[in-house]
Amino acid sequence: MDIARTPSTPDGNIEMADAAVEPKAPPEIRREDYTPFAWLVPTTRLDFALGLEKTRVTATLEVERNPAADASPTIRLNGDGLELVSLKCDGGDCAGHMMDGDDLVVTLEGDSHTLEIVTELDPSANSQLMGLYASGGMLCTQCEAEGFRRITFFPDRPDVLSTYTVTMRAPKKDFPVLLSNGNRVRMDDDGELLTAEWHDPWPKPSYLFALVAGDLVARTDHFTTMSGRVVELNVWVRDGDLERTEHAMESLKRSMKWDEETFGREYDLDLFNIVAVSDFNMGAMENKGLNVFNTKYVLADPETATDGDYDGIEGVIGHEYFHNWSGNRITCRDWFQLSLKEGFTVLRDQLFSQDMGSAPVKRIEDVRVLRGAQFPEDSGPLAHPIRPDSYREISNFYTATVYNKGAEVIRMMKTLAGDEAFRQGTDTYFDRHDGEAATCEDFVRSIEDGAGLDLTQFRLWYSQAGTPKVSVNLTHHGDEAILELSQNVPDTPGQSGKKPMPIPLKIALFDRDEGTHAGEQLIVLDKASDTFRFPGFATKPVLSINRGFSAPVSIQRDIPSDELVFLAATDDDPFARYEAMQDLMVAYLVSASKGDLDEESREAKQADIVRAIGSVIDDEAIEDLMRGELMSMPSQTYIMEQIDEADPARIFERREELKAVIGRKLAHGLRQLYQRAEKLPYSRSAEAKGARKLKTLVLSYLVASDPQGASALAAKQYENADNMTDRQGALMVLTGVDGVERTGALLDFYNRYRGNPLVIDKWFSLQAMSMHPQVIEHVKALAEHEDFTLKNPNRVRSLYMAFAANPHGFHAESGEGYRMIADLILGLDPINAQTAARFVPALGRWRKMEPGRSALMREQLERIAAAPKLSRDTFEQVTRSLG
Ligand code: TRP
Ligand code: ZN
Repeated sequence: MDIARTPSTPDGNIEMADAAVEPKAPPEIRREDYTPFAWLVPTTRLDFALGLEKTRVTATLEVERNPAADASPTIRLNGDGLELVSLKCDGGDCAGHMMDGDDLVVTLEGDSHTLEIVTELDPSANSQLMGLYASGGMLCTQCEAEGFRRITFFPDRPDVLSTYTVTMRAPKKDFPVLLSNGNRVRMDDDGELLTAEWHDPWPKPSYLFALVAGDLVARTDHFTTMSGRVVELNVWVRDGDLERTEHAMESLKRSMKWDEETFGREYDLDLFNIVAVSDFNMGAMENKGLNVFNTKYVLADPETATDGDYDGIEGVIGHEYFHNWSGNRITCRDWFQLSLKEGFTVLRDQLFSQDMGSAPVKRIEDVRVLRGAQFPEDSGPLAHPIRPDSYREISNFYTATVYNKGAEVIRMMKTLAGDEAFRQGTDTYFDRHDGEAATCEDFVRSIEDGAGLDLTQFRLWYSQAGTPKVSVNLTHHGDEAILELSQNVPDTPGQSGKKPMPIPLKIALFDRDEGTHAGEQLIVLDKASDTFRFPGFATKPVLSINRGFSAPVSIQRDIPSDELVFLAATDDDPFARYEAMQDLMVAYLVSASKGDLDEESREAKQADIVRAIGSVIDDEAIEDLMRGELMSMPSQTYIMEQIDEADPARIFERREELKAVIGRKLAHGLRQLYQRAEKLPYSRSAEAKGARKLKTLVLSYLVASDPQGASALAAKQYENADNMTDRQGALMVLTGVDGVERTGALLDFYNRYRGNPLVIDKWFSLQAMSMHPQVIEHVKALAEHEDFTLKNPNRVRSLYMAFAANPHGFHAESGEGYRMIADLILGLDPINAQTAARFVPALGRWRKMEPGRSALMREQLERIAAAPKLSRDTFEQVTRSLG
């Protein structure tokens, strides 16, 4: 039937007329409006006639009325920019159908029907990288969250679970490999055309559908599960990349083993495929049995990948694999429940990485990410609870709040329950909800029941946004230490007058003279304020609080810097030790940047810091990876967060000055550290990784005090490097200093690695992150470079995310940095709206800045808002940021 001639409904016409007068805001979707879908779709058959420029999709859906929902005379099938070629109901004409916006609404009179829908797509024209798209000659899909509706008309919502059978037909020459979810049940080869049929026995929502067609090669291996089933494992890449897949495969096998041992979760298909794709909006995607990855999280060898890249691969491979249970076997009822799968899966990947390497260092890294990305979100115009209440575009809610704070919230449940009881809780969850589309409430109730906890008040962590501030005051009377705590959850957009939340705090009280404590304790602050008394202290102890970062809160206390120096040197909790070190530096940099300190007290505080770092350098009991953490300076962004009306130029100046003081006063110790580290040959051991971390850290201190001398050392490190960690570290240091070393090394790096896009991304990033005074001019020139393109998200991020995170460039007093990011957003929005919208939050920080910059940032947001045509993604982020 020819759908093009179907008349629009009167309603449809009115909407069209409205749209012509003025572009209207996309509708707000609200969590409390959830209703179950009127229809079930027990089976879905998809037939793909694949081609880069033309793909024809025939979808056959068995539908039946959902007894658990209100009956409806129609079925709404979501579409997004789709053209309907034909539609059949039970093999003939349908009783009625119409287009409502992008959706297809079909009248269905009986209780069960078969729908056949044909659509036609041009994957090569899909620059949004959602739905079916082309990447480097191959075809692949990305359906989460709402990409499936760009392939065919379907109830594209996570609570409609269906069993999929997929047929793929393609010219063998270009697409010798055809993959989809589940198991391959048939393969025909007529010499020219290849036909593959795949069947996934596990019912799933449409967002977990995937297919890949291309000229790919695999690293193949096997894993035997706890019940003795042999699973075939493949990592698919382009010819030539195979040697760089070993670490990904090893990470996958470790993930499978770990999930069996730690959560009792076994894999449930005979095949697990991973495919690496170079054009990808995010890190990776957990499609059932067919994970699709950004190449960045698959490919590694020592020559081209840093230690950080290796860790990232292990973490993301784990993350996607763990989704097989936390996400796929149990999925989300609606997208407001996103943290159900993402928060829990991030926690699972964090615990996995902790177990695979240094647990304290991993914890410090995770807290740094939370503070660097989530705290700013929570204190700005885009703040939302881990379970949001409303959205206009769900892609905007794949945030650090849903992911990383979501993980912290579940980690607190684990802390409150203890490891064993928590495991009982997760077992209860997996048992109870297997095969379902569940809610965060289902998860909390399972943990409550399984672990034997009362989480009534704890549920506030799901509904209240904002980082709680905990004020701490310790006094001493007679033989008692008295700890007074109070909490305040700040107002956030749409939420004020919040209730106190239960905050689990691990603490220890140190005897100042002995340097010891009588044991760590867990206290829970669940009132607005409370007093905790600890008898048995003849003298006032030193308080170590929020050890291990037991709660995602901001601790406010007046602690004398000699106590911080004491904790930095003696605390037996590595995280707390790191924290003391950071507090010492943050406190100084905040007051120095605000101009609160005279010359004399500035020097005294600098001396405290130098002394503390000096003792870290000398402490032989610390591992080098940890030493690197203890010696790291807090980021400029984090310092800015601590100041109202921050002036980035002054913070930059003070921070560089402190680096120079450390570099000068500790030059001898730093150089000794470097010489020791330099002796270790390359390996992936913790020891060798620690040594590499120290080398570049030492260079970054030395270059602040002695640019010439340190440049020479960095140039030597660059030239002699036999691995990317050393080479990139040296180049990073050189990129900040004007001179022949800089030009030579950048040119060498480019020539050495041209043809390797992931390494060329680093080349773009290093220049965009640089402290160089001309960083803005450099970024402008790089945007015109022949290797730059707005079509590839990795390349866009490598230049512009790096730049937007560089306060020195982005916050240039002229406002030029803000204008560049606004230009990028406007230019990228029509090409890749999802990626464009991710740059808006940087400008959304305008309220935190000093008045001059604040006005300049706002001006750019207004310029974007005034654009004639904006995507839903960017529209939502810009209006919320201005609001
Ligand atoms: N579920 C994916 C993950 O966390 C996230 C993801 C991958 C995604 N691609 C996406 C989310 C595209 C939105 C749009 O692992
Ligand atoms: Zn995820």
